[in-house]
Amino acid sequence: MADVGHTVLFSADQVKDRVSGLAAEIRRAYPADTTLHLVTILKGGFVFLADLARVLDRPVTIDFVAVSSYGAATRSTGAVRLRQDLYLPVRDRDVLVVEDIIDTGETLAWILKHLRAGGPRSLRTVVLLDKPSRRKLDIEADYVGFTISDRFVVGYGLDHDEQLRHLPYVAVLGGSSTDTSTNVSCQTTRGASG
Ligand code: XMP
Ligand code: MG
Repeated sequence: MADVGHTVLFSADQVKDRVSGLAAEIRRAYPADTTLHLVTILKGGFVFLADLARVLDRPVTIDFVAVSSYGAATRSTGAVRLRQDLYLPVRDRDVLVVEDIIDTGETLAWILKHLRAGGPRSLRTVVLLDKPSRRKLDIEADYVGFTISDRFVVGYGLDHDEQLRHLPYVAVLGGSSTDTSTNVSCQTTRGASG
């Protein structure tokens, strides 16, 4: 991959604060004795999952599913392919999907359908980043870290051609970080049950 450089969009401290804020919202939304079953979509969600799980202050179980939709491109191809299925059954669990970013919505729609088929007690989603301007499907996450404009972002688990996942911040490939980002968290009722 040619090194196109990157520009910080959300610093490590900003991301940390926002993840703590999301954890507080999630804690308020579930009874204190609820064990949350965190399901993360590999590979992009692994950093967000690790940080969120450690500040949730709730019992959690964790599972992974691997899908691919992007390949080496910076635009979604739309076709979601299952690469590795869940290890644990989701039946009667309170499932919280932990995803890096919602773009067209194809991946989240696919994974929610897949999980619903397993009969969870409840099913909600938290995404660190939301690009609503790119949406093709009528779908929203229950908890959103940052809403961003149509920029290809890297770092904090997100890659460009498998690189840059290790960055402790969220960055934009090349260019400047000027963005219309807002730091809102929207809680909707969508997807609140299995
Ligand atoms: P869809 O279009 O299905 O996309 O909502 C969700 C998945 O696409 C990846 N994605 C990105 N990956 N920078 C990335 O590194 C981006 O800006 C970006 N936008 C979408 C990501 O894997 C996400 O799960
Ligand atoms: Mg992803």
